[in-house]
Amino acid sequence: MPDPDFVQQDFQRRLRTIPPLGMGLSVDVYSPDLFELVKRLREQGLRPSYLEIFKAPTAALRTVRQAVPDIPLAYHGEGLWITQPDVQESRFFQQDVGETVTQLNSIQSLWLNHECAMKQMAGYSFGTYLPPLYTRLSAEVVAVNITTVQQAMDRQGRREGGTAPLFLLEMPPLTYFSAGTMPIPHFFRSVTALVPCGLVLDIGHLWTVYRYTGAFQRVSLEQFVGEFLDEFPLERVVEIHVAGLACHESIGEVKGGGGLPEWIDAHAAPIPSILFTMLEQVLAHQDLVSLRGVALEVDTKPIETIVDEYAEAVRRFSFLIQQTMAKGVAVEQSMELAPYRVSVQTPVCQSDRQQLRDQYARYAQIISGQAPMTGPEWQDTAAEPAGITRYRTSYVPHEILHWGGGLAEMFPQTCRVLAEWGICLTEFVAFWFRSPRPLTQSYDFFLLKIERFLEFVTERAPEARVCVEQEGDMLRLAYAQANEVVEPVTEMEQTR
Ligand SMILES: [Fe+2]
Repeated sequence: MPDPDFVQQDFQRRLRTIPPLGMGLSVDVYSPDLFELVKRLREQGLRPSYLEIFKAPTAALRTVRQAVPDIPLAYHGEGLWITQPDVQESRFFQQDVGETVTQLNSIQSLWLNHECAMKQMAGYSFGTYLPPLYTRLSAEVVAVNITTVQQAMDRQGRREGGTAPLFLLEMPPLTYFSAGTMPIPHFFRSVTALVPCGLVLDIGHLWTVYRYTGAFQRVSLEQFVGEFLDEFPLERVVEIHVAGLACHESIGEVKGGGGLPEWIDAHAAPIPSILFTMLEQVLAHQDLVSLRGVALEVDTKPIETIVDEYAEAVRRFSFLIQQTMAKGVAVEQSMELAPYRVSVQTPVCQSDRQQLRDQYARYAQIISGQAPMTGPEWQDTAAEPAGITRYRTSYVPHEILHWGGGLAEMFPQTCRVLAEWGICLTEFVAFWFRSPRPLTQSYDFFLLKIERFLEFVTERAPEARVCVEQEGDMLRLAYAQANEVVEPVTEMEQTR
């Protein structure tokens, strides 16, 4: 076990290489068009203190770096499933880490932000983020995997001045449920005790924790936030995110217990005012001493809304953020750092990793409706099953059939043939989760969907095979061209 003091000192040393930034935006290159967004902000006299950019083709990232030389850039990664006990054994992991470092270098990024979440586990794939199992063993695995990624950044991810980007771990949203045996703040405290990473606290994600862990039945939102922040390793929070929340289209406007809406993370939706009230409470907390930036996360949102929300957030919070950052920097400067000592990470033993792998296989089977809720990590979830039922029966089928490209639009002819033969598309959901599958490429939900639909049609309606193959080939070609040429975004690329 590494000495927590060494780990904390290592974090402080790394943090010092990141200047205080202020109020920024977390954006996508294409959705909406980043250059148009920056232009419209500038027309209003607004210049984000920094831009955090979501993973995109490297050529596009280089173009951004050249186009806005006056704005510091940071990077929001994707596809490194650091929650998974076998991720380092995947033959794509090294390649994915290498690509991440290349992208970090291409924009001279200050940090790598990655959700503590996954879209793939134990051979099962999903379209949107799922939270990790909140257990001690799971926290240890996350720490070991972050160490590997940070080491790769230390070796190859050099910024001007010779410093390396810092790994920031973001607390993920809950989509109706969570599973585990330890409180979420304790989980993140366990991770930060083992590895010198920073954290991203997303205020909307925090709201979903209040909503979907049953905390709302016990205490007020204000009391929940206060208690959560006292337990969470707030001294490691380097960035705060604020994004929209909304009811999912597969469910509609519903209010559950306590009159609270069933909101989930929704970057295209407006930011509810309650999140700014929560932000005030977070910024006022005495342990928030490492803050470098607060970003509105605005990918997929209309430009007019972004400009309005950003202007309002700057007016309301800029001064407060500057004050909070200055207070933290003063604390840092008064701190003496001991000579650098490498903190050695203890590897997680094979049997523990196998145990966690089995737990993740069960996780995937439970949330896709293939297995009953068993095991201590599902005890609390099973006691209040409304959330997991919502996910299993509404959210996940919608994800497989519509998210990142609707099947009826992707394969219009094949779907017509299937309908004529009385084959319902919902059968594809059960087919998708029928068995785990070895990974054949780096995670790409759109390409996975094409591959699996081809297999489904070949099995269920072999006569439509030529048709589905033709439509699949056209989709793959268009997708490859879109990714190469850096065309404006299409519906099918939005697989975030
Ligand atoms: Fe976020």
